Amino acid sequence: VVDRPRPATLEQLPTPAAVIDLARVQRNTAHMAARARRLGVRLRPHVKTHKCVAVARLQVADHFGGITVSTLAEAEHFAAAGFDDIIFAVPIAPGRVPRAVALAARIGRLTLLVDDDVAIDALEAAATHGAISVCLKVDCGYHRAGVDPTSEAALGLARRLHAAPNLVFAGILAHAGHSYDCVGADAIRAVAEEERAVTVGFAERLRAAGVPVGEVSVGSTPTSMLADDLTGVTEIRPGNYALFDVFQASIGSCTADDIALSVVTEIMGAYPDRGSLLVDAGALALSKDPGPRHVRVDGGFGLVCDLAGTPLPGFTLVGLCQEHGKIRLSPGTPLHGLRVGDRLRIMPNHSCLVTALHARLYVAEGRRIVDEWRPVRGW
Ligand SMILES: Cc1ncc(COP(=O)(O)O)c(C=O)c1O
Repeated sequence: VVDRPRPATLEQLPTPAAVIDLARVQRNTAHMAARARRLGVRLRPHVKTHKCVAVARLQVADHFGGITVSTLAEAEHFAAAGFDDIIFAVPIAPGRVPRAVALAARIGRLTLLVDDDVAIDALEAAATHGAISVCLKVDCGYHRAGVDPTSEAALGLARRLHAAPNLVFAGILAHAGHSYDCVGADAIRAVAEEERAVTVGFAERLRAAGVPVGEVSVGSTPTSMLADDLTGVTEIRPGNYALFDVFQASIGSCTADDIALSVVTEIMGAYPDRGSLLVDAGALALSKDPGPRHVRVDGGFGLVCDLAGTPLPGFTLVGLCQEHGKIRLSPGTPLHGLRVGDRLRIMPNHSCLVTALHARLYVAEGRRIVDEWRPVRGW
């Protein structure tokens, strides 16, 4: 990233620019830290949402300091910044094992995730200079990854991990990604209870079979925001909550006022006769995440706001090309005097995808830019 003087205000940012509202990210991270303490679990936040050391430090404040990552690039970056208890929470692909094992030798604890014998073979073969910490991934209803906790195969893998001389069986881990299919707090609470009950039930099954289980790790942002009871769980791993986004607000895990990430964009075309505007935030600034189509089919690619962050009713971001965003105005919607050269702010559908597209994230207090954070990118 080329160094250049930091702009002083939202008006001076080179557009499109990803902006983090400092007060909101501080409020969001403090809220989750307090929730975890109230529920009696440790907080091991996922950092993939922002990939920035500064946000991770806010997330772990008042907790034990452990984090969750989704790439080895994140693991190496955060380890270099002093984080020394990290879970790499995607099933380890054998090709990544040498790099993961090399990192594990340099930090306090790097825990890897498995749900297959082939991956365990690769770890056993690589663990020649010390034991490797491993978690077993459990499917708690999302069906993206993980073992079926009722199966014999799941018990067999856990027994193998427990018995392996050069592996440390750290525990079990589940992620209720299907909480994103919910609408409303009650539906999310039901998935949170499913995530807890399935995972804790599996831990009890393993213990009854003579396999000790340490960590019982669960968590997504919706379930972590709404769970009432986490009996039997040892840690939660939400990540998106640091920034939130339109998706989370639409399904009911936050309100639009909690969204801490936006993309500042400049109007580069105005077509009042056609009822549309063209902005310079396209798919490479906002991603093409369609948002919560099960809540609203025509919600567009983000929430269009004025530069102060107030939503503009009747403005819908209906289309994205690589570097163009097309905003459609509903019939009768006032243009508010907006012209080419004016600025708007888009709250994204999915923050985790947006931060990964930007080389720097500007940090704002109101309209003032007070800092600039650089997410680690790549894999
Ligand atoms: C394994 C795992 N844990 C935790 C999380 C964090 O969940 P969320 O993004 O809802 O905060 C994710 C997100 O994809 C995940 O894959």
